[in-house]
Amino acid sequence: MIRVAFFDTKAYDRPSFERYGAEHDIRFKFLETKLTEDTVELARGSEAVCVFVNDTVNAAVIDRLYEYGVRLIALRSAGYNNVDVRAAFGKVHVVHVPAYSPYAVAEHAIALLLTSVRRIHKAYNRTRDFNFSLNGLTGFDLHGKTMGVIGTGKIGRIFIDICRGFGMKVIAYDPFPVPDGGIAYVPLEELLTSSDMISLHCPLTDGTRHMIDAAAIGKMKKGVVIVNTSRGGLIDAEALLEGLRARKVGAACLDVYEEEADIFFEDRSGHILDDELLSRLISLPNVIVTSHQAFLTEEALNNIAETTVTNILSCFEKDGLCDNELCYRCGRIERCKKERREKCF
Ligand code: NAI
Repeated sequence: MIRVAFFDTKAYDRPSFERYGAEHDIRFKFLETKLTEDTVELARGSEAVCVFVNDTVNAAVIDRLYEYGVRLIALRSAGYNNVDVRAAFGKVHVVHVPAYSPYAVAEHAIALLLTSVRRIHKAYNRTRDFNFSLNGLTGFDLHGKTMGVIGTGKIGRIFIDICRGFGMKVIAYDPFPVPDGGIAYVPLEELLTSSDMISLHCPLTDGTRHMIDAAAIGKMKKGVVIVNTSRGGLIDAEALLEGLRARKVGAACLDVYEEEADIFFEDRSGHILDDELLSRLISLPNVIVTSHQAFLTEEALNNIAETTVTNILSCFEKDGLCDNELCYRCGRIERCKKERREKCF
């Protein structure tokens, strides 16, 4: 039996993980707390930990995990910016779920965009109050507008297909363009200056942190709509607020927020929110915030559990090749995976 300490458990995680775990003799210890330097002790006695996007898996945590005999960090997410993959190398294997439902995220991005530009969030509240006035609800057509997509990986490409279905012109920026993908790539600068709407679908790295800052917003068209379902750190939220206040940014649709770790995923309705910046963003009529919900579909939850269980099994198999291993030596993880014939160490 493989024992796995499952951090930051939510009610929606349990059914699928319990089902797939029981089928394969994996026992999940479901813990509500996040993994941090203060809670890492709870991993004692487990061979693996299963973590999500807001768990802290830094070098200090990794050293403690290693000391306790934990040999695998299984991310149940695609993004892995919260894990110090370099510090883990040679000690603890790291695996992730590269694709569980890119449709879930791409469709959520579109849902946010449509809600914003057609003022659905306002109309919903009005009609519940029997207010059938249309004043202030004027939107605009997506058809014919230019969508700038930053990052054309699995999610970005599906998002592009959906945008094309609306009759939008799509331009994209990605340092690793998809050959023969029929995508009109442009330099980032051109994307920023020419897009009516911009949607972020690239990972958060040292190089992409705050790629949307005051300078980038300064280059954008007046009234631009910014959609972020990727990672909060891609946007300098102070600069975004300033752009909104200056009426330069027409609307923002945010499923992620840089400081979300201690806020999102919990019911805080009875509390005063300590984060002034997020409070101000939420208070604006042209900002829509969802709390890192883009992945949350039935299909995605099943795929996440199934792939995580497969990842765990393959990592504990002697000489087993773990397809979804992350290794810092691989600058391009996708390419490395194709060439890999064995575990990374
Ligand atoms: P992917 O790895 O398939 O694609 C990422 C793309 O970004 C790649 O084509 C890569 O070349 C590109 N990229 C790398 N650096 C870039 C840069 N500086 N500028 C522009 N593009 C760059 O990843 P996938 O599955 O499409 O996911 C994208 C992001 O979505 C993830 O990194 C994750 O942060 C986020 N995500 C959010 C979820 C949510 O619930 N809100 C759920 C799943 C993923």
